[in-house]
Amino acid sequence: MCGIVGYLGDRPAVPILLAGLRRLEYRGYDSAGVAVLNGKGVNVVRREGKLDSLERALEEHSPLGTTGIAHTRWATHGAPTRENAHPHTSRGGDISIIHNGIIENADALREALQREGYVFTSETDTEAVVHLIDHVWDPGMSMEAAVAAALREVEGPYGIAVVSTRDPEKIVVARNGSPLLIGVGEDGELMAGSDAAAVIAVTRDVVYLDDGDYAVLTRDGYEVHHLERGPVDRGLHRVSWDLEAIEKGGYEHFMLKEIMEQPASLRDVMRGRLLQEEGDARLGGITLSDMELAEVQRIVITACGTSWHAALIGEYLLEEFARIPVEVQYASEFRYRNPVIEDGTLVIAISQSGETADTLAALREASKRGARTMGIVNAVGSTIARETDFGVYLHAGPEIGVASTKAFTSQIVALTLVALYFGRRRSMSVLDGRRIVGALEALPGQVQEILDQADEIEELAREFVDASNFLYLGRGYQFPVALEGALKLKEVSYIHAEGYPAAEMKHGPIALIDEKMPVVVLAPRDSVYGKVVSNIEEVKARKGRVTAVVSDDAPELDGRVEHRLRIPQTLPALLPVLSTIPLQLLAYHIAVMRGCDVDQPRNLAKSVTVE
Ligand code: G6P
Repeated sequence: MCGIVGYLGDRPAVPILLAGLRRLEYRGYDSAGVAVLNGKGVNVVRREGKLDSLERALEEHSPLGTTGIAHTRWATHGAPTRENAHPHTSRGGDISIIHNGIIENADALREALQREGYVFTSETDTEAVVHLIDHVWDPGMSMEAAVAAALREVEGPYGIAVVSTRDPEKIVVARNGSPLLIGVGEDGELMAGSDAAAVIAVTRDVVYLDDGDYAVLTRDGYEVHHLERGPVDRGLHRVSWDLEAIEKGGYEHFMLKEIMEQPASLRDVMRGRLLQEEGDARLGGITLSDMELAEVQRIVITACGTSWHAALIGEYLLEEFARIPVEVQYASEFRYRNPVIEDGTLVIAISQSGETADTLAALREASKRGARTMGIVNAVGSTIARETDFGVYLHAGPEIGVASTKAFTSQIVALTLVALYFGRRRSMSVLDGRRIVGALEALPGQVQEILDQADEIEELAREFVDASNFLYLGRGYQFPVALEGALKLKEVSYIHAEGYPAAEMKHGPIALIDEKMPVVVLAPRDSVYGKVVSNIEEVKARKGRVTAVVSDDAPELDGRVEHRLRIPQTLPALLPVLSTIPLQLLAYHIAVMRGCDVDQPRNLAKSVTVE
């Protein structure tokens, strides 16, 4: 949801800002803009559409200057037009602001400022903030004092960056609910960014701001203040990955790169965490004592999107391995439903980005009601990672493609490790533990085997390029995989797709099946395989075109399915990791053949930091 970059140093700002925006484009890409300061004034350039149009405009006329801010937008207030693109400027044109978030009292501020004579030129909530800064900025005041004074009147989440010719050679940034960090480079170079990807080309040393913080970046260094508490020290952190991790590395799309990276990302989530002899997991991030763990009576897992599908698999895993009752809730529902949190409730938040607004709000609600909270998060240092009591990182590296792939399989494996860890501290035997550890160890190699058949899946995709609907069916552990397969397809190819529990199909979706309807059935050999075969028969009887994901020759399916996608066999609980892979590839290839922008599908954003 919008990306923010700022640069202050000795080099021309525009190329650095544009490179930063490129790496933040996953956060939104419907318009973009820059504001660059030079000795004479400020240059603001904004364009509607993807970053390419801004880049073209800047090629024609590149503002000189070594201090600037830049923004890529995902519209919340107002259509994605040039007028609504950021930066927004004050009436004198001397203050420029970029913003990620939602100003909840924007209407009231707008009315009050209009009464003072301010004229609004956009439909955005952000414009109210720049006029407010202008309004409170008395002569003799520093920019940070004016920004802080304005922010005290602002409600709602924001990450902002401000520059002004009234107080040049300076960037003021502030954070409340939307992510923001400072990059501290060498020779006095400073950056600001919505995440580390925005600054990594300049530095790996970052300062994560907390809610309520604002910071001043000048040629003498940076200072962080809290709106209420005054100066604060937020420490310096070193980002563990480098530029290579966020570049395409020869692949046509990030999505394909990230699909192909899964053997490595799965090794990374398990590294140092498998105890073969003990049949156990080592999870240093879980700081619960065995006694506290024994007191856990119930688990609620909350998440959004693909992470919610991982949560559903986690429900099956935790119930099977640890025998703890689990409920899975959409974060956006959980937070508003007056949830029951009793003693002994553990709330787990799953999030790739660690910044999803609804997941964060659900987590805060759970904490407020006295739950212990745990995070399963990919982005190190993200808000959810920091606000949970304890947690497990995925270590999957940056995920750039908007449709989540490698983070999903790492989430499932992380949940398996957590279920194993909890299980072994309750009633699971060492023998069962060893079997699971053994199966986990084999997973990366098995995923590679599936990836080696990518060409076959590409071939199959050709058949479905013109489909307008798809049905995905699965039972047990494969039901959430069906949901995820359908989500992947609709996200990147815009084909309508539904995921359904295979047996529930009879209660509705069966009415949709005819000879034009492709149906993907997850049918690996597990305890419900026989039932799934019957469900396939029901589809076949209505002339549906079945593609089955199978884990052996599946002779029972002869004559019943048109295509088979083969995955290796493993424990039923781990099959979702494998059965997901062909569905990711299928969605990817269909989308590419339809000419869709798979890394930046329309209307979506990677990190949804608004409600
Ligand atoms: C967005 C993304 C999805 C992601 C979801 C949750 O919708 O497009 O890919 O699954 O947010 O994000 P999170 O970062 O919390 O896992």
